Amino acid sequence: MSIRTHYTDAPHKDRHDFSNLRRIVPFLWEYKGRVLGALVLLVMAKVATVGVPLILKEIVDVLGTEKLPLVLPVALLLGYGALRLLNVLFSELRDIMFARVRYHAMRNLSKEVLSHLYSLSLQFHLERRTGGISRDLERGTRGVSAIMNYLVFNIIPTAAEFALVAFLLLGEYAIQFSIVTFTTVFFYIGFTLFLTNWRMHIRHRMNQLDSNANAMAVDGLINYETVKYFNNDHYEINRYDDTLDEWEDCAVKSQTSMSLLNFGQGSIIAIGVTIMMYYATQGVVDDTMTIGDLVLVNALMLQLFIPLNFLGIIYRSLMHSLADIDLMFGLLDKNSDVTDKENAATLNVTQGVVRFDNVDFSYHPERQILHQVSFEIPAGKKLAVVGPSGGGKTTLSRLLFRFYDTDKGSVSIDGQSVNEVTQESLRQAVGIVPQDTVLFNESIYHNIIYARPDATREEVFEASRMANIHDFIVQLPDGYDTVVGERGLKLSGGEKQRVAIARVILKNPKILVFDEATSSLDSHSEQVILSSLAEVAQQRTTLVIAHRLSTIADADIILVLEEGQIKEQGNHQQLLAKKGLYHSLWNLQLQEQDEL
Ligand SMILES: Nc1ncnc2c1ncn2[C@@H]1O[C@H](COP(=O)(O)OP(=O)(O)OP(=O)(O)O)[C@@H](O)[C@H]1O
Ligand SMILES: [Mg+2]
Repeated sequence: MSIRTHYTDAPHKDRHDFSNLRRIVPFLWEYKGRVLGALVLLVMAKVATVGVPLILKEIVDVLGTEKLPLVLPVALLLGYGALRLLNVLFSELRDIMFARVRYHAMRNLSKEVLSHLYSLSLQFHLERRTGGISRDLERGTRGVSAIMNYLVFNIIPTAAEFALVAFLLLGEYAIQFSIVTFTTVFFYIGFTLFLTNWRMHIRHRMNQLDSNANAMAVDGLINYETVKYFNNDHYEINRYDDTLDEWEDCAVKSQTSMSLLNFGQGSIIAIGVTIMMYYATQGVVDDTMTIGDLVLVNALMLQLFIPLNFLGIIYRSLMHSLADIDLMFGLLDKNSDVTDKENAATLNVTQGVVRFDNVDFSYHPERQILHQVSFEIPAGKKLAVVGPSGGGKTTLSRLLFRFYDTDKGSVSIDGQSVNEVTQESLRQAVGIVPQDTVLFNESIYHNIIYARPDATREEVFEASRMANIHDFIVQLPDGYDTVVGERGLKLSGGEKQRVAIARVILKNPKILVFDEATSSLDSHSEQVILSSLAEVAQQRTTLVIAHRLSTIADADIILVLEEGQIKEQGNHQQLLAKKGLYHSLWNLQLQEQDEL
């Protein structure tokens, strides 16, 4: 169950570059026609590129003959211009052709990752940091797009150009020209790869720090209110800045080593070109080569290094992209702790009998939360769970919803274990008003209809009326269109709870769970809602979790849960008669009420 955090799983030693790259192939394959078209255009553009110095040589040679030609070599000049134009044209067409492939892949991947994130368990989502994960996702999809780009626009074209130049040099000129060219290229690539590899760890650290800083900033801003309560702006900013401090050092180091790299590359090219020019000049002096030839070899070699110069950057970016997509594919490979069984059936709720059978449960192996919990809520009845904070009440509702799997024992509805049915059908049947309601930062209307997007406006209003919030909403300046703020913070606690209740009423599930659903309400509003809830809960199996015992005295069964164990069980009268834990809790609350 251990969750690898994304801060630590970055060492590039155990990256799965090869398999990651293979996972990109299907996205290319989906548009094989376009990919092929782009490749053809690319070769055509390269042929035009290499043709340019060839024509230049002809022009120089014509001009260099003893007797100047009577007419300008118009055809050659036009050809020269045309080739340049074609080069640009083919390159642009290639970009257009490939754009769909790239962006489609980005879109599909983003979608796949998001849908995978939703399929992961609550456990995963409680342990992750939203800011960090959205960065990973963003960088990952950008990485895939970049890798495709490099392949189609840099690596393959450079290789093609290389082949063309080699073909020309070997065919037309003395062997030393090829030797110099290829030796230079060899050293150039070797040097680039060596230094880039060395620089890589700096870049990795930078990425980590970047993610950390971002996650920290987002977490702080999400908790804006808490930060202010404790006057901790400076603390948050300092924490952020400490991370950025290290990031800054890394960034400077990264830049310095990049300059070293660029300088080294430039030196290798300078040496290569000088040797090349030496041989070419020698050739012209010896009269084995024309001036045009000299211009040509020089132009060819320099032209070759233009993309190679990029290759250095490409390699670096490629490695970074590989690291980025590794994080993303790592996310995709993360399996959910809670998964549907193969061929899981749909839950078929007939009566709505909920049963917990000898349930043991722990969030962490070292700390067991529930011990041998067994109870049954008969069809259409109301069961209340009371007990001290931290006793495991909310945990019960999470198990019923199958956010987690039990360690031992089973949770079942109408005899069907929640592990055996699809999560979708289970969650269709169960409606929860959670202990802490959080709302989407959208309109109230959106937040309510979220429960059942195909509901009519009238049904939404009706649900709000039952939750005793309709009148409040309509008197707001923007009515149902009022936007509730991030996590619903612009509504009061009680208003939020009532929105959550309206939402569940609209969902109209067979089984209801109310986790402290009315805890933020004043006694009067609570009474109003309780009577609506009693109406809603009629004929429905209901699990109510409450601290205020007066709200659940009418329950058919009351469980007293303490430290994950059921200490007492019975209805209100029976439990009072027992004179145990419930009895003392009840008296305590009566006393408090008297004191008010
Ligand atoms: N995701 C989690 N990971 C680890 N421990 C958890 C997790 N959620 C809850 N716990 C622990 O499990 C115990 C039971 O929590 P639970 O939320 O079920 O208590 P509760 O009875 O609902 O309490 P309250 O009345 O305060 O709402 C608590 O001690 C809590 O710290
Ligand atoms: Mg709770």
